[in-house]
Amino acid sequence: MKQYRIAAIPGDGIGKEVIPEGLKVLRAVAAQEELDLEIETFPWGAEHYLQTGEFMPADALIKLESFDAIYFGGVGHPDVDDSLPGKHCTFRVRKAFQQYVNLRPIRLLPDVQSPLRDKRAEDIDFVIIRENVEGEFAGVGGIINPDRPDGLAIQTGVFTRRGVERVAHYAFELARTRRGKLTNVTKSNALTYGLLYWDRVIEEVHQSYLDVEYEKLYVDAAAMNFVLHPERFDVTLTTNLFGDILSDLGGALIGSLGLAPSGNINPERQFPSMFEPIHGSAPDIAGRGIANPLATIWSGALMLEHLGEGVAAQRILGSIMAVLQDKDGPRPVDLGGKATTIEIGDAVAQRLSQGGA
Ligand code: NAI
Ligand code: MG
Repeated sequence: MKQYRIAAIPGDGIGKEVIPEGLKVLRAVAAQEELDLEIETFPWGAEHYLQTGEFMPADALIKLESFDAIYFGGVGHPDVDDSLPGKHCTFRVRKAFQQYVNLRPIRLLPDVQSPLRDKRAEDIDFVIIRENVEGEFAGVGGIINPDRPDGLAIQTGVFTRRGVERVAHYAFELARTRRGKLTNVTKSNALTYGLLYWDRVIEEVHQSYLDVEYEKLYVDAAAMNFVLHPERFDVTLTTNLFGDILSDLGGALIGSLGLAPSGNINPERQFPSMFEPIHGSAPDIAGRGIANPLATIWSGALMLEHLGEGVAAQRILGSIMAVLQDKDGPRPVDLGGKATTIEIGDAVAQRLSQGGA
């Protein structure tokens, strides 16, 4: 029996509601596929900070490093300075564990209505590869004399040859396994140092993948095309900030942010990778039991796929689709239904246990 050690970090708000459903589904598929999942849950995040004065303990990264993967909810709390949770949790783990690929599938599932009224499942199926450790979120900058009339803030994007090359290789490789097209979403007409270099390095990497169709699109035009022509995208390679923004737009295109999964991947597997819904802690709906857990459950499938358990991953996705296609079954509130977070998690787990997917 194959054994995997998973660190679960629910985080804050709806993270605490959706991760238990994800774990329920992982346990159900593990029982079917004879996987031994050893799951340890850590109470870290902004609420933990309010209680203890720290987001994660000093030895958190050392603890996490021994796991095969990390399953994360979302962090952020209305009573906590919102510049802190990312810095102390998400970005910290992504950087320390060299999770330089943020993999964000944007796929409209059958029987889910996109806000784009004419688009069907076959029209919206692409992947955003977001550079995940440098770019605009490198954390380089400073604030000088903030309270004076001459106050000044500078925040610089960082684009290194190594950083761009490695994520570009990943994206071109991925395009080869899909429809063979890569769109570089950039803004090199205006950011004429950082993104000009970004383009140049990507175009150099493209020379090793001439079988992959390559196009360059400015981010403003890409936003428009996401809405008007989503079918033109296969693999979209973009920077940290643009990827962050475009993936929430992608989440909207597939019907809800509550359906959009992601993986923070360390392709070399030197460190554990981290899987999480792209949404945050959603304080506006937290505590009401109505969050859609499917993005988190789907992220669990991405985690199993990364661990080499493709069959188990497909079974989870199949069960998600079966639940959404069941006209008489429970439907999440964000998709116009009335079902609670727990009812959706139960429905997906039950499908798996019945072998129905
Ligand atoms: P958010 O993603 O938490 O929520 C945006 C909107 O989508 C809200 O109206 C929310 O109710 C809805 N939504 C999100 N997930 C949903 C789900 N599963 N089911 C149904 N509806 C859902 O983003 P927001 O409101 O900008 O940020 C809230 C907090 O989360 C902030 O503290 C922010 O910094 C943090 N955050 C954390 C992230 C992480 O830990 N990786 C990522 C994004 C935001
Ligand atoms: Mg985001």
